[in-house]
Amino acid sequence: FSDFLTDTFDRQHDYLRISVTERCNLRCVYCMPEEGVPLSPSQDLLTTPEIVLLSSLFVSQGVTKIRLTGGEPTVRRDILPLMQQIGALRPHGLRELCLTTNGLSLHRKLDAMVEAGLTGVNLSLDTLDPWQFQIMTRRSGFAAVQKSIDRILELNRAGAGIKFKINCVVMRGVNDREILPFVELTRDKDIEVRFIEYMPFDGNKWSKGKMFSYQEMLDLIRSKFPDLQRGAGLKNDTSKTYQVPGFAGKVGFVTSMTHNFCGTCNRLRITSDGNLKVCLFGNTEVSLRDILRQWNNGQPIDQEVFESIKQLAMNEEGLSPSPSRAPLLAPNSERLLDIIG
Ligand code: GTP
Ligand code: 5AD
Ligand code: SF4
Repeated sequence: FSDFLTDTFDRQHDYLRISVTERCNLRCVYCMPEEGVPLSPSQDLLTTPEIVLLSSLFVSQGVTKIRLTGGEPTVRRDILPLMQQIGALRPHGLRELCLTTNGLSLHRKLDAMVEAGLTGVNLSLDTLDPWQFQIMTRRSGFAAVQKSIDRILELNRAGAGIKFKINCVVMRGVNDREILPFVELTRDKDIEVRFIEYMPFDGNKWSKGKMFSYQEMLDLIRSKFPDLQRGAGLKNDTSKTYQVPGFAGKVGFVTSMTHNFCGTCNRLRITSDGNLKVCLFGNTEVSLRDILRQWNNGQPIDQEVFESIKQLAMNEEGLSPSPSRAPLLAPNSERLLDIIG
């Protein structure tokens, strides 16, 4: 494992999240304002060859899992050729190629994506009610999402082995009454439903009162399913996994607000305009795009470019937390809620 992907907390960053677009075809209330987010000029965004180049570079240094995110990754016009090229890195050490998507247009592209090497889908769905879907996403499309879910399950029944999770952001007074129906969904379906604590982002009108905590969710679920059991969990999981005994699927919790997991976080991020970031809440970013464009000029990557990325992006500045972020990143750090709540 390459040293330059190990940080000062000895965390090995072998999971790379790449945002392939800022655009989205929904407007979830906890994420985006009605008018959408300001978009960068297209020349500022990473091109497909640049994303593929960076992916192969990180894989050569020990990254084994790549997740494509957005915005909504499926709205990128060339998402399929992009996936095919990243999928081709499998013989070189890439073990997982995953997608975080809202599922709206996934059903049209899923089969080809699986053929390209897609191994996991995290699908964002906060409600099982079409009307509520319209309220939470400010768009229609519930039936299309359902079609994507059905297709994933169908492919899995045929042996595709897609790791499938549903991400459900819980907001008090908005969709908290859907927690139990979502758990019920795991009775017959082999899905991991993950409940996510509502987090504050710029302009998403977060308030502590609207956050429904992990503990509250557990209490609620145990009132109906008292024998809910904690599962083992993997080393770098950001979620805590449970199961109702006898149910086909699982229930997970992403507890960013009340029980942070920074100590075991193994993610690197590349933004759609090519900045490398180590933490969702951090400000330290370095432009890999500028390095590539400055040195590469469309030529195949050479040792010089590789060295510049190592030095500029992977030095102490890039990977280790700045003192102001240290409390968020240190193992046993304070709860996020206490810092920004
Ligand atoms: P897998 O572990 O591969 O299943 O996926 P994931 O949980 O890394 O990715 P996903 O895109 O499904 O994100 C799920 C939730 O975790 C979202 O609400 C993210 O905002 C949140 N999340 C992802 N990375 C981080 C992180 O580094 N810190 C915190 N606090 N939250 C994160
Ligand atoms: N709080 C918690 N989760 C969020 N997501 C987007 N915005 C927020 C927020 N404010 C979730 C989406 C998606 C995942 C990548 O992040 O629902 O599933
Ligand atoms: Fe944000 Fe995802 Fe909803 Fe789009 S689908 S608005 S990116 S949370």
